Amino acid sequence: MPTISPIGRSTPRVDGPLKVSGRAQYASDFHFPGTLYAVPVEATIASGRLVKLDTAAAQKMPGVRAILHRDNIGQIFRSVQGPGFEGIVDERRPPFEDDVVRYYGQYVALAVADTFECAKAAADAVRATYAKDKHNVDPDLQADDEPDVVATTFAPTKRVQSERGDAGSAFANAPVKLDQIYVTPTETHNPIELQATTAIWDDSMLTIYEESQGVFNLQGVLAQMFGLPKENVRVVTRFVGSGFGSKLWPWTHCALAVAAARQLRKQTVGHRPRTQQRVRLGATTEGKLVSLQHDYVNHHSMLDNYHEDCGEATAFHYSVPNLRVTFGRARRNVGSPTPMRGPGAVPGLYATESAMNELADQLKIDPVRLRVLNEPKIDESLGIPFSSRHLLECFELGAEKFGWSKRTPEIGSMKRDGLTLGWGMAGCAWLAARFPAEANVQLRDDGTARVASGTQDIGTGTYTVLAQLASEKTGVPLDKIEVALGDTSLPEGPTSGGSMVTGSMVPAVFEAADKAIESLLTIATSGPGSPFQKRKPTDLAFEGGRVFVKADGPAGGVPFADVLRRANVRLVTGSGKSEATFGNPKPKFSTHSFGGHFVEVTWQPEIARLRVSRVVTVIDAGRILNPLAGRNQIEGAVVMGIGMALFEYTSYDRQSGAPINSNLADYVVAVNADVPPIDVHFVDFPDKEINALGARGIGEIGLAGIAAAITAAVHHATGVRVRELPVKIEHLLG
Ligand code: MOS
Repeated sequence: MPTISPIGRSTPRVDGPLKVSGRAQYASDFHFPGTLYAVPVEATIASGRLVKLDTAAAQKMPGVRAILHRDNIGQIFRSVQGPGFEGIVDERRPPFEDDVVRYYGQYVALAVADTFECAKAAADAVRATYAKDKHNVDPDLQADDEPDVVATTFAPTKRVQSERGDAGSAFANAPVKLDQIYVTPTETHNPIELQATTAIWDDSMLTIYEESQGVFNLQGVLAQMFGLPKENVRVVTRFVGSGFGSKLWPWTHCALAVAAARQLRKQTVGHRPRTQQRVRLGATTEGKLVSLQHDYVNHHSMLDNYHEDCGEATAFHYSVPNLRVTFGRARRNVGSPTPMRGPGAVPGLYATESAMNELADQLKIDPVRLRVLNEPKIDESLGIPFSSRHLLECFELGAEKFGWSKRTPEIGSMKRDGLTLGWGMAGCAWLAARFPAEANVQLRDDGTARVASGTQDIGTGTYTVLAQLASEKTGVPLDKIEVALGDTSLPEGPTSGGSMVTGSMVPAVFEAADKAIESLLTIATSGPGSPFQKRKPTDLAFEGGRVFVKADGPAGGVPFADVLRRANVRLVTGSGKSEATFGNPKPKFSTHSFGGHFVEVTWQPEIARLRVSRVVTVIDAGRILNPLAGRNQIEGAVVMGIGMALFEYTSYDRQSGAPINSNLADYVVAVNADVPPIDVHFVDFPDKEINALGARGIGEIGLAGIAAAITAAVHHATGVRVRELPVKIEHLLG
């Protein structure tokens, strides 16, 4: 039995051995006798109509079972959003619902065959004829004409997101002004595990194996789309080869797999939309902000209503008396955007943190100092205190670890080994809240325990953290704890989104463990042959896996397995449930995670070679339950941030409207060779408003702000200000 708490200890992944030995089963690893394979036929126009589908040749190919399309797929209903956080889908139109093509790559038919290869060949053999309309993939985003309140994925949203004071006149009268436009491109998630669904119909029961970040949401949506009671749909997600948001909400491939499976007994899945953001800052000559205006536009698809909330952090991040944050959207012939790691705040903070860095240069003030000068005491947008905000401590530690005080601000003034150095920094923030969560904990007569919740481990360490939480309460060592997750037959767990799983699970698992222990103590006092037979449950205590009489202290304790065995009880079980704080309209505290990035780039103008050479990131995410897994998350986010700043963009061809680099070869992400030493630190201040351990989530926070720190470093080295990501060598050649 562990004598030291597993909480706060660097704990290797409990699911690591399964993964490295290839025994972890991902969605497309489930093979059943008679499994058929389906490959979609994708539209090759971006706007227009499908007028004819010639399937004759495809149907005659060996191994082909069916070519499914609008006329023979059978009914697929439209899902609707339920009250609260239910029924969420970004691409709402059921596949094949009409013959209109609204984006390049939209599914128009589905080839089903005995093998994947046959299905692919058959899909390629389907001939589609289109009536083409003019498409619009214009990268210049001007907001469409929309009312003041618009529909979004979640709820109707005011386009003036936040307003205080009079930002317009304060800006007009400000002694120092900055007015710039920042652009972030379309980015595609590209997790290593591609999208896939394995669907099985057994009479009226539908089971699907899917790489989902939210099995319960998917269950609800599929039940609606196929007209089934929810209990007849089971969604299983044992492992996810990363999601970054691309697997948050259901996509059309899943409904198609289900529809194909229904009759006969597979990657176009969202993207972070392009954004165009105008930031206006007004300040005094000493560097105190007097006005902040952030007006942004994101592209979205022809039918759906996606809002990339770039203003997520803007209204509370700085102390400023006059502020206005607004958004607009521009419809384009593209597939529906969807959340991508750190949706909203990541592109948003790129813009606002870049503007702060530019303002610091304009004022000739150190960028850390400018932030310190504008650090708020409370959340000024809501007029409430922060539950726990230690941004300045992040800057202090980061600056020290990085050696920031040695920075000389003049462009190109710093050199090392013949290279020009650039140093930049930025801050970050990300929401912290809880989704509703349920969990179940069992204590068993062999001294093992089980913790179960229908949440998911998207590669972030949920298996391990759940084991740590159960171990903390029950005293059972980690290797004797079974963790069950990713299945709608388990107690309802939170969607793996918004970095909220850990924070949400703490109260539910703790309550479940307490209930199991309560039940154990009752058995201890009632079972024949129990050493505690004459006691009342309230006389007893449980600690480190042992039951003992409070008055006698733990020395005379009995292991819980003995208590159960003597009573001939296999196991005791307890259930726990915790409420959401996410979406609370009247919160008492403003709860967020914070952090700071310090970045060094090296620049060799002779050969136009730019490298990120050093990163120090310090994060305030409350108490860190597992520093090893936590550090992994931030390192991964920084790697993705290097990609965001220097490489990633999905390019829509103006001629065809096609996303022309829609494959892993042409869509460039950061790889090992691009990644320098990343020095991650946590300030570790528990946030008691979020849960008993004070643990907020980690993950997305690491990607916020990093691109602004990198572009500031690029400017410091080269003198070139890039305001449209990614930074390309062409920009630097002037
Ligand atoms: Mo994250 S975009 O909530 O997977």
